[in-house]
Amino acid sequence: MKVQFTETVLRDANQSLIATRLPFEDFEGILETMNKAGYYSLECWGGATFDSCLRYLNEDPWERLRKIRAKCPDVKLQMLLRGQNLLGYKHYPDDVVRMFVKKSIENGIDIIRIFDALNDVRNIQVAVDETLKNGAIASGAISYTKSPIHNLEAYVKLAKDMEAMGCQTICIKDMAGIMGPQEAYDTVKALKENVKVPIILHTHSTTGLGMLTLQKAVEAGCDVIDTAISCFSGGTSQAPTETMAYALKQEGYTIDLDMQVLKEINDFFKPVKAKFLKEGKLNPVVLSTDTDALNYQVPGGMLSNLVAQLTAQNRMDKFDEVLAETPRVRKDLGYPPLVTPMSQMVGVQAATNVLLGERYKSISKEVKAYIRGEYGKAPGEIDKDLQKKVLGDEKPITCRFADTLEPGFEKAKKEIGSKAHCDEDVLSYIAFPAQAEAFFDKRDEVKKNTFTYSIRKVEE
Ligand code: CO
Repeated sequence: MKVQFTETVLRDANQSLIATRLPFEDFEGILETMNKAGYYSLECWGGATFDSCLRYLNEDPWERLRKIRAKCPDVKLQMLLRGQNLLGYKHYPDDVVRMFVKKSIENGIDIIRIFDALNDVRNIQVAVDETLKNGAIASGAISYTKSPIHNLEAYVKLAKDMEAMGCQTICIKDMAGIMGPQEAYDTVKALKENVKVPIILHTHSTTGLGMLTLQKAVEAGCDVIDTAISCFSGGTSQAPTETMAYALKQEGYTIDLDMQVLKEINDFFKPVKAKFLKEGKLNPVVLSTDTDALNYQVPGGMLSNLVAQLTAQNRMDKFDEVLAETPRVRKDLGYPPLVTPMSQMVGVQAATNVLLGERYKSISKEVKAYIRGEYGKAPGEIDKDLQKKVLGDEKPITCRFADTLEPGFEKAKKEIGSKAHCDEDVLSYIAFPAQAEAFFDKRDEVKKNTFTYSIRKVEE
């Protein structure tokens, strides 16, 4: 039996360990090697990479994608998309979602892994449809979580719905790294028995379960596993690529990875990791095993965000309290899976509850919108008192929220005007208005300076 690998170093490992601060120039030199490693796919875009490019790295995310594509012509490039939320934190109208998907594929993406934080399949339908229309692979991702209302039957139903929608693969997305080996075995087996498309498992090593979980998933017939090159593996990141490949090969599975090429890739990333450690951008805390997540169900990215947030406010003394408040907030909200944007919403609300010393003294506008039904259907019951506090006598909405939205692309295009040089720029602006505009201004400034310089040169 064959097992294939998706390498996450450029997206999820980057996001989970170093808050997505890896600039293009830090990995440009290894892309041609990564192209020939034998991966099923290279997860390299989407998630937080887009935001981080504009906000922190002064990079055009679209240009980054095109540059990766140019150096990796053979391996499938994969991105992560939050369904109707795209890469942001709110729902976008359908015309924007379709344009974003179309442009992602045009600029080089082969596989779009599409999930909804609440597993409300209405919220992935448009993105899946547009992906298929443009000839790319649509991978439906189930946001895996544990709660009194999440069970095998519910996951099988979700997978069947996604397959019926046209998804060519189904990914079980254990973003919190809370899936145990037996749960992986049972879930993959149930899915394999009920759907025909390949099954992929995405998990994290946060709790130390990562490798065991992947191993049991493979035994149950899992077709593709997500791993990270070893020096960017472990902790809140994924299980190590080389280790899993070595072990599975020994057990007789067919593995397409070239171990010599993997060594080259790892050797390349070692000094990159050392640099981030030295600069303090890689906190050793996120590299170690933390079994608390088995109770708190806090995903890798969320854990490192909370550390960063509390450190910045000089309130790390409250870390344990915030972690303990997190599952309580989650229960009040009807057990949403802790994945972006729900993980941020629940995390910030838990931190607010603790730091203000009173629960729900202040409620973020995102949590209010969630309670109104603007993110989709809550998996379980929302706490009645909290609902009343937010809604009063107003009724929550029950339709697909995007159906209430006016088309947005042309309006945004007009709004940003000549600062946007192409439709991709307009999409950056729609996704992250302030960050994109600041990026465009800087870009124009550089152009102007270059222009002045060349004139001066002529005059000389
Ligand atoms: Co992840």
